[in-house]
Amino acid sequence: DDLKDVIHSLKGLSDLEMSLEKVLGVKKVIIVQGNSDEDELVLKDMGRASAKYLRSVISYNSVIGITGGTTMAQVAEEMCQEKKYSDVLVLPARGGLGKNVEIQANSIAAKLAQKLGGNYRLLHVPDNIEEETIAALLKVPEVNEFVNTMKNIDVLVFGMGRADEMAKKRKSSEEKIEKLIEKGAVAEAFGHYFDRNGDTVWESMTVGLSLIDFKKVGNVIGVAGGERKAEAIISICSIREDMILVTDEGAAKKILDIV
Ligand code: G3H
Repeated sequence: DDLKDVIHSLKGLSDLEMSLEKVLGVKKVIIVQGNSDEDELVLKDMGRASAKYLRSVISYNSVIGITGGTTMAQVAEEMCQEKKYSDVLVLPARGGLGKNVEIQANSIAAKLAQKLGGNYRLLHVPDNIEEETIAALLKVPEVNEFVNTMKNIDVLVFGMGRADEMAKKRKSSEEKIEKLIEKGAVAEAFGHYFDRNGDTVWESMTVGLSLIDFKKVGNVIGVAGGERKAEAIISICSIREDMILVTDEGAAKKILDIV
């Protein structure tokens, strides 16, 4: 690990991290080499770096929340199989059941828990449901218990995306996507769409972590890389000053270019 640190600083990544901490005003930035827009292996490296940082903040009886997406899938994938955290509980942070099972928060939470040797709970609630349906779901004992347990999340690891990409992935109508863009949405995280200043533009209707909850979680680790996500990262970093950002060189350099 010492050798890795030396290489890290020789490559100028430590300087880049400090510059980014300053311009984004966040607590800590961890940068991996490369640009995940161009090289899938960089996503793996971000996953590994996030998993390592996550291990450093897990404490006795920690409740970890994790979101979905390809980046979060790599965090679980790259977590080492230590199985020494039997008191830890992992929860998917929000409802949402897409087609692709591997990148659903439920599967990722289960995989992360297995790697850690901890426990997990699942949340079987789709995205974009009617308000009355949510109210009805909250009366189901398992869902209600889940929502109460969520209040104990002390570490949240979450993916950040571009608003346009995420709206398309969620199969939103053209009209909806246009409206989001019109309102200035540039970023998406845990089902919320944010404008450049980190203000909420729209929220998908489901059960799980809200923005108010997000602001209360002790440790928040946002992970996203690739030049294309630069603006999204800037937006979300403005929501919480004490956030930890794990990103790649591609996004980092682009952020410094545009701020
Ligand atoms: O909210 C944003 C997404 O979780 C990011 O998804 O990691 O597949 O780019 P991704």
